Amino acid sequence: MKIMLLGPPGGGKGTQAKYIEKKWNIPQISTGDMLRNNVNNSTSLGIKAKIHMEKGDLVPDNLILAMMEKRLHEVDCKNGYILDGFPRTIPQAESLKQLLSDINQELDLAILLDLDDDIIVERMGGRRVHSSSGRVYHVKYNPPRKENIDDITGENLTIRDDDKEVTVRKRLKVYHSLTAPLISFYKKESILKIINANRKIEEIKNSIETAINHV
Ligand code: AP5
Repeated sequence: MKIMLLGPPGGGKGTQAKYIEKKWNIPQISTGDMLRNNVNNSTSLGIKAKIHMEKGDLVPDNLILAMMEKRLHEVDCKNGYILDGFPRTIPQAESLKQLLSDINQELDLAILLDLDDDIIVERMGGRRVHSSSGRVYHVKYNPPRKENIDDITGENLTIRDDDKEVTVRKRLKVYHSLTAPLISFYKKESILKIINANRKIEEIKNSIETAINHV
């Protein structure tokens, strides 16, 4: 099963991807997490990506595509994956389509988590993350068992550098101009399922499960 999660920053992609990963036993491939790991390890990709990420801009397509081409050929992708945050531009979507078609494959489902901008700004203000695993919490809507501590490892949670309101608003602007056109792209491919993300995490999870079971 090859699934992509599409939606605005803070729309709940990472939260839902973790559930799908566990339930269907396919890896979550989050370009955001991969880039943040590169930034933290000061790799040459990380150094180049940091400048764009800090400003709330997208990292250039050529860097993302080189990173993803390598990742999608790794052995754990054999039975499918959940793409979280990729593709994010029309050129990225076209390149992914070509890459998959070269190996006689295609995406099975594109899920749009649909949510208004104002709700997003509130959600991002309360987000806390466990940076090495990408596990996501919210101080009010999805709190860890112990304040500011990851449930699994007991390590401290952190606030993402790009979660400041001004950067979130910039990321939303970028989403509407460069990423939202993918909604029509995947509608044309007849694999788009739109899910109302202004509901409880559990309800969204159930809708996603139904959509996956219908593929
Ligand atoms: P990335 O890490 O992908 O960020 P994003 O797409 O902006 O998405 P987020 O991770 O911010 O949010 P999410 O949708 O995963 O929501 P979450 O589940 O955390 O990208 C970061 C940067 O990297 C980009 O700005 C760009 O620079 C670069 N980049 C990445 N991919 C790229 C690409 N392909 N091309 C170019 N550049 C790229 O939820 C948010 C909060 O809400 C959490 O606190 C969560 O607990 C809470 N929450 C979730 N669901 C609910 C709910 N139903 N009700 C209440 N609260 C909820």
